Amino acid sequence: MEKTISIWEGTAKQGGTFSSLTGHKEADVVIIGGGITGLTSAMLLSEAGKKVIVLEALQIGLGTTGNSTGNLYITVDEYLSVIKNKWGPEVMKAVAHSRKEAINLIEANITKYNLDCDFYRTSFNLFAEDLDKDIEEFIEEELQALTEAGAAVSIGGNPGLPFEVAKSLTVEGQAQFHPLKYVRGLAEIVKDTCEIHENSQVIDFDEDEGIVKTKDGSVKAAHVIMATHTPKGVYGVHTVLGPYREYGVAAELLSGEMPRGIFWSLNQPKRSVRCFKDGDKDYVLVIGDKYKTGHGDDTSEYIQRLESYLTSHFNIGPVTHVWAGQQYRPADNLPYIGKHGDFMYFLTGFASDGLVYGTLASMIVSDMIIGKANKWQDIYKLSRFTPVKSFTEFFKENADNLVQYLKGAPSDAEADSMEEVPPGEGKVIEKEGEKLAVYKDENGVNHVCSAVCTHLKCTVNWNPSEKSWDCPCHGSRFKTNGQVIEGPAVADLPVITT
Ligand SMILES: Cc1cc2nc3c(=O)[nH]c(=O)nc-3n(C[C@H](O)[C@H](O)[C@H](O)COP(=O)(O)OP(=O)(O)OC[C@H]3O[C@@H](n4cnc5c(N)ncnc54)[C@H](O)[C@@H]3O)c2cc1C
Ligand code: FES
Repeated sequence: MEKTISIWEGTAKQGGTFSSLTGHKEADVVIIGGGITGLTSAMLLSEAGKKVIVLEALQIGLGTTGNSTGNLYITVDEYLSVIKNKWGPEVMKAVAHSRKEAINLIEANITKYNLDCDFYRTSFNLFAEDLDKDIEEFIEEELQALTEAGAAVSIGGNPGLPFEVAKSLTVEGQAQFHPLKYVRGLAEIVKDTCEIHENSQVIDFDEDEGIVKTKDGSVKAAHVIMATHTPKGVYGVHTVLGPYREYGVAAELLSGEMPRGIFWSLNQPKRSVRCFKDGDKDYVLVIGDKYKTGHGDDTSEYIQRLESYLTSHFNIGPVTHVWAGQQYRPADNLPYIGKHGDFMYFLTGFASDGLVYGTLASMIVSDMIIGKANKWQDIYKLSRFTPVKSFTEFFKENADNLVQYLKGAPSDAEADSMEEVPPGEGKVIEKEGEKLAVYKDENGVNHVCSAVCTHLKCTVNWNPSEKSWDCPCHGSRFKTNGQVIEGPAVADLPVITT
């Protein structure tokens, strides 16, 4: 069983073909991060004649892009009717239209460069197995919003799913693809005109000079694109982004049909279901059960619930892939895209809609760098701060952060000594006034780091299903050896010798 890797990683060719950065270089644009946002920006800017260098900490596409669902749709996971109620009909329509342009760009790239990434146009479907008054009203509101946005939308019964469905809403002309094959395909195309480096984690930036540094090299550029999903470092924007993790589970379909299409359940908990064909194997995927990063006590329960969902709805074989990804949810429901300071660009807050929003953000920022007007840039501008529209979410995220800081105060340790940590588990202990993150491996060897997050000093929590230390404040995550995996933290958790 290929567990703990996404179906996309499990069905794409091996990556990791680009060398790491060494020495000092100069470029027009340096892009930090090689997901869909970084690679799309690289492609657009290279096409415009800019000298571009991409620096990726791990491998191209193995951040959230390669752990997503591969759905491309004009609506958003908080729904267009919610955007309409919060921002008004004009912004709602602009969101749908701008996202449509981004999907069209993805399709145009695939056609132009002949990228083999399982792309096809298909429908987006909301479905309810059980109907109640709230769901009925919601479907009507969403129908209205989508109609105003010019979408080809209809209401119906079962959209072809192999289980009972009471009502559905269908939007035609959306799309699905293999997200990892797509970004790796883009990398293969742009590598002829720009430099790409993997295993090149940016560990320092000189914001005054526009210089980014890795362990063995540095790049000076007039423009620095932070395509790291959430900006690395300490910035105000982190107070309006809620980090959440979400799981995916896939299994082979043994009998029955799972039609092509994007399917989101309207009954709670919300789930996203789709099929994927790899050679002669038909897979069914379910994604859902999101929880705030660093807050899920027994994260294996989330995976079990998704497995049970698949077993109760489909005739499947054993689970073949299990994975997780992170999303950053903006407090006022729109991404943050734009220039920060003299050199830097932030592209963040995509929630779980960032294959499309990441593409759109790349279009907006590339136009800013090239000096071309972009009609969508004001809607998503970074400088907006909307206390009225985002107050509830802003308060919720930050009240929670305050709780986490207080939790980090001495005396909130989970075990009194390292001996109490069972093999295969991690616990925070307190020793001589210091919080320690202790992971005991299966052989009984302790791996000890500081439990104080290097971003803004919250105490990290153990994530048992992914064996990582996750920060409940802004979503930084660390390996058991302290190495940063993702989130705004730049520095690793210091290793403690005991
Ligand atoms: C479970 C799940 C399902 C989803 N499904 C969908 C979907 O169906 N449709 C959709 O539109 N969106 C979906 N999303 C959201 C979407 O996947 C993301 O928003 C999108 O992939 C973000 O792309 P990105 O390039 O900005 O970030 P990433 O893909 O995370 O790329 C950022 C890259 O930056 C690198 N990096 C980080 N720090 C450094 C550093 N210091 N130096 C160098 N490199 C660094 C990382 O290694 C990473 O590769 C989903 C999200 C989740 C969690
Ligand atoms: S991610 Fe901000 S304090 Fe840990």
